[in-house]
Amino acid sequence: MTVHFIGAGPGAPDLLTLRGRDLIAACPVCLYAGSLVPEGVLAHCPPGARIVNTAPLSLDDIMAEIGAAHAVGHNVARLHSGDLSIWSAMGEQLRRLRDLGIPYDITPGVPSFAAAAATLGAELTLPGQAQSVVLTRTSGRATAMPEGESLAAFAATGAVLAVHLSIHVLPRVVAECLPHYGPDCPAAIVWRASWPEERVVRATLATLETAAMGGPERTALILIGRTLAAEGFGESRLYAPDYDRRFR
Ligand SMILES: C[S@@+](CC[C@H](N)C(=O)[O-])C[C@H]1O[C@@H](n2cnc3c(N)ncnc32)[C@H](O)[C@@H]1O
Repeated sequence: MTVHFIGAGPGAPDLLTLRGRDLIAACPVCLYAGSLVPEGVLAHCPPGARIVNTAPLSLDDIMAEIGAAHAVGHNVARLHSGDLSIWSAMGEQLRRLRDLGIPYDITPGVPSFAAAAATLGAELTLPGQAQSVVLTRTSGRATAMPEGESLAAFAATGAVLAVHLSIHVLPRVVAECLPHYGPDCPAAIVWRASWPEERVVRATLATLETAAMGGPERTALILIGRTLAAEGFGESRLYAPDYDRRFR
């Protein structure tokens, strides 16, 4: 018996990996993390599967579900939105499974920042403009930011910021970033990237709040950085005629 942690992708059901789809189809139990896991992904569950939304459950409840499946030898598909390496609460589940000696494996998924970048038609790293992307968030009700991981500290580097879980504090995000990027820096918000109800706003840091007015207060990515609207960047060396082809 194995618990298969599977990144369910950003929303569009066909942004699930083939491995993820096949594992879901092979598991008689599916635990999925709330409304960000689309029904189209759950549709891969086999007929008669036990399908449980874990949004209202505690960690103890979730472990009880896994324990019950373990007792009868049923494999479990454990779905979280996007990829599992960021803000999935997978870490604490893995620790419990290790303590219990229950085997698990992990199948990555398409993260929401990648889906948002695709929507914007943007390569986030461009020569001479930005070569780093910071996946970050602001403090939430449940999670405080560790000291040193402030937006201002990341903004000071000039990297592209992909700010998660923060659309409800957009004015604070803009205020912390403005002194570092300046008012003309390109910025965008993508709500529910890859879902049918996806919505996009492109602006500058100075105009972002006004442009976003009236937008939903949940499930959005705020992206800030020069590469979101850069045209005058140099070409990478990768496809230069004199570049050593072994590194392509
Ligand atoms: C709990 S985190 C999960 C992140 C997820 N593990 C990932 O790989 O993107 C939820 C936050 O991710 C972002 N998010 C998740 N799905 C999104 C989507 N389809 N479009 C825009 N932002 C999304 C939002 O900032 C949302 O508040």
